[in-house]
Amino acid sequence: MKTKIDNLLEKFSHASANSLIPILQDIQDEIGFLSEEAIVQVGKHLDMPTSKIYGLATFYNQFRFQPRGKYHIQLCHGTSCHVMGAATLIELFEKRLKIKTGQTSRNGAYSLEIVPCMGACAFSPVISINGKFYGNLNQQKVEELLDDLIDNE
Ligand code: FES
Repeated sequence: MKTKIDNLLEKFSHASANSLIPILQDIQDEIGFLSEEAIVQVGKHLDMPTSKIYGLATFYNQFRFQPRGKYHIQLCHGTSCHVMGAATLIELFEKRLKIKTGQTSRNGAYSLEIVPCMGACAFSPVISINGKFYGNLNQQKVEELLDDLIDNE
């Protein structure tokens, strides 16, 4: 039986190594992260060693190697959000959830992702949780948001 990855790779039937990044982006869009199985399949498809694919994929911080958590938290670190204190808020998320950006918590409840400008600079600093935006954040608001999330874990 064909997997989602098989179907996706069919779109790139004559692909070369130059297509690696678009292929990885499509896989991540489709299954939410780059699984080991997906990397192996891409390696066979492009006739590339998996170590080289990992090497390239880890260079770009857009790629995830673990599934998303129940609460996927995107933290904007564009210029405006940075100026408005995003770095401090990112540290707060990491400390409270005990994971680093790019990781998913062991219980599968949370994942953190740094993203570039989310297009809502007027409300900096901005985050989104499962696609819902929160703006004009400060440490106290983030603590309250985290309290709510943890209560509903
Ligand atoms: S920099 Fe964060 S929304 Fe634009």
